[in-house]
Amino acid sequence: RERKMYMACRNDIHRHDAPFIAVYKSLIPAEEELEKQRQLMAQLENLVAKEWPHAKLYLYGSCANSFGFPKSDIDVCLAIDDDDINKSDMLLKLADILESDNLQNVQALTRARVPIVKLMDPVTGISCDICINNVLAVVNTKLLRDYSRIDVRLRQLAFTVKHWAKSRRVNETYQGTLSSYAYVLMCIHFLQLRRPPILPCLQEMKPTYSVRVDNIRCSYFDDVDRLENFGSSNRETIAELVWGFFNYWAYAHDYANTVVSVRTGSILGKREKDWTRRVGNDRHLICIEDPFETSHDLGRVVDKFSIRVLREEFERAAEIMHQDRNPCAKLFEPY
Ligand code: GTP
Ligand code: MG
Repeated sequence: RERKMYMACRNDIHRHDAPFIAVYKSLIPAEEELEKQRQLMAQLENLVAKEWPHAKLYLYGSCANSFGFPKSDIDVCLAIDDDDINKSDMLLKLADILESDNLQNVQALTRARVPIVKLMDPVTGISCDICINNVLAVVNTKLLRDYSRIDVRLRQLAFTVKHWAKSRRVNETYQGTLSSYAYVLMCIHFLQLRRPPILPCLQEMKPTYSVRVDNIRCSYFDDVDRLENFGSSNRETIAELVWGFFNYWAYAHDYANTVVSVRTGSILGKREKDWTRRVGNDRHLICIEDPFETSHDLGRVVDKFSIRVLREEFERAAEIMHQDRNPCAKLFEPY
């Protein structure tokens, strides 16, 4: 539309690459922080192995998907292949074990939507949530990390978008805005649809990795070292991509009829997913398909109030990218 025409006039966009790259670099966690995470993981593995020798611990979420910010809490999944376990009992037992090993603020939240044990490690200062058998989250964490290894522009874009979302307070699912996981999927999808594409669709390629989790077959091409040059014929830079991303979500996305799908690397119709009307609390006002749990819409948390907040923020961001002299400063202005 009109605004898109206007946007075509902005030819000084590359001037803003350096400030965006600087923000991105400032958000990458330091190596010593990762070392502390590994230290805490080793301690937890030790404790768990004594009680449940067949259990395994996995990191998931932002501490493992390569889209984490400094000083994040870590998310851990305890995987145990045993049909007879009672999650609540196990979490309570785990809490006991952790407490007697001097971990602080240990709390078992057995009635939460995802039951967890929380703890804080006084040695490293890291807080941690441990859940049981949330293996799909471990697998989608790996998918995100594998995508991030193909082209550095994904990390640059996703860090920028997450930083914007946190600054503008539209990264709060309990307030009806989107999770970090949803934003990263939106970034992957956006880069899959550039022409020429910057990212492939790994789930449409010949699988080299395949696991079955809770009756869902999760398979995709994970030999991503072989895709190092995949996006090289597209020369778009970070400022252009940030601009394109916000322009898409402000003015080009068809909220009424479509679903973004990383799984297929395409835009699907709401009709084919049967996401055309409200069912229970799922309103489907902005639709982002989970790559493995395909019946799961990550936009389900968004309601008729928060959709307005979200779209106004996309428009604000797009306007800043279109015309501000110093978009990098303005974009992240705290709400
Ligand atoms: P920050 O903590 O904001 O830095 O990001 P994060 O990457 O940890 O994201 P988030 O807390 O949103 O999600 C943690 C993990 O939970 C994700 O990486 C997914 O593996 C998993 N997950 C699976 N389904 C969902 C979902 O519906 N919502 C959210 N939020 N997470 C999900
Ligand atoms: Mg998290």
